[in-house]
Amino acid sequence: MDNRQKTIGVLTSGGDAPGMNAAVRAVVRSALYKKMRVIGIRRGYSGLLARDMVEMNLRSVCDILHRGGTVLYTARCPEFRDDAGVERGRQVCEEIGISGLVVIGGDGSFRGARDLSLKGVPCIALPGTIDNDIASSDETIGFATAINTVVDMVDKLRDTSQSHDRCSIVEVMGRHCGDIALHAGIACGALAILVPEMPFTIDGIIEKMQRTLNTGKKHFIIIVAEGVKDSIGGDVHQLARTLEERTGVESRATVLGHVQRGGVPTARERVMASHMGYRAVELLEQGIGNRVIVSRGGEIVDLDILEALNMKRKFDEQLYRIADVISI
Ligand code: ADP
Ligand code: F6P
Repeated sequence: MDNRQKTIGVLTSGGDAPGMNAAVRAVVRSALYKKMRVIGIRRGYSGLLARDMVEMNLRSVCDILHRGGTVLYTARCPEFRDDAGVERGRQVCEEIGISGLVVIGGDGSFRGARDLSLKGVPCIALPGTIDNDIASSDETIGFATAINTVVDMVDKLRDTSQSHDRCSIVEVMGRHCGDIALHAGIACGALAILVPEMPFTIDGIIEKMQRTLNTGKKHFIIIVAEGVKDSIGGDVHQLARTLEERTGVESRATVLGHVQRGGVPTARERVMASHMGYRAVELLEQGIGNRVIVSRGGEIVDLDILEALNMKRKFDEQLYRIADVISI
């Protein structure tokens, strides 16, 4: 089949992430350059099942490179967790003539792409999530921008914490992954960074606060990954009350929430996402599917989707220890 008869689809799935638009733009432009047709599927796998789609042209993706969010919208699709839903997805691809699909999303979306691949639809998955919880990729599209957003917000909180000799406790996203907390925590000079991957105790936090109080430290930042909420008595507001009672330092909690999902993608994010999008189309052009495009060791490479999904994430414990030392 020459490219002129080849039609590929592209969708964004799961939590949106800054940089997704850069990836979508690269997929569309690369495919059209290679004389393929490109179908933009709206709202993730839900849109695939609902045939919520539009043929893309060169102008469909202009003026989006610098915008957060996704012009293809995104959604979660419970039906796709069942074989019947995936089978319906396969049928839609067959009816529309989609010979390959680029899926831009997180861990869950990768599993959907795996299941569709196993039914014979060549899929290429790109890691699009702020969580950075894709084991096969050193970095996900959205992670760098989310860190910058957190740092910008926490720098503002530092102003008021410093003015009031207070402790600011900040909850950040990441689902069950602590990477946003770890990297933003170092960048913000947090006294403590609480993540699901590493053990901690409230007593340990209090001991470190008291130790640094004795060195003259007057205000504090503590970053809490949302995945540890159960271990701190429910929420960061409760932790603030506990720390204030036990240390005498006025403490206030802030949940950053969905601001972390928006914003202008960083330049590096745009470059990585564009590179990944281009590579995805190159593979589909060669009839290669069932792969993921990931960042490893500073390179953009492709891996078998099943191999990628069987990988275990490694948390950067060395960086975690460095954060603990340099925050005394
Ligand atoms: P993310 O991709 O950001 O991790 P989700 O975990 O919500 O977001 O997954 C996005 C979509 O991927 C889900 O709504 C569902 O359609 C599909 N999905 C998630 N998990 C699976 C799974 N285990 N098997 C098949 N499809 C899945
Ligand atoms: O997966 C991205 C993410 O932002 C997680 O960090 C967070 O826990 C979740 O999505 C929030 O999901 P929703 O947007 O459905 O509230």
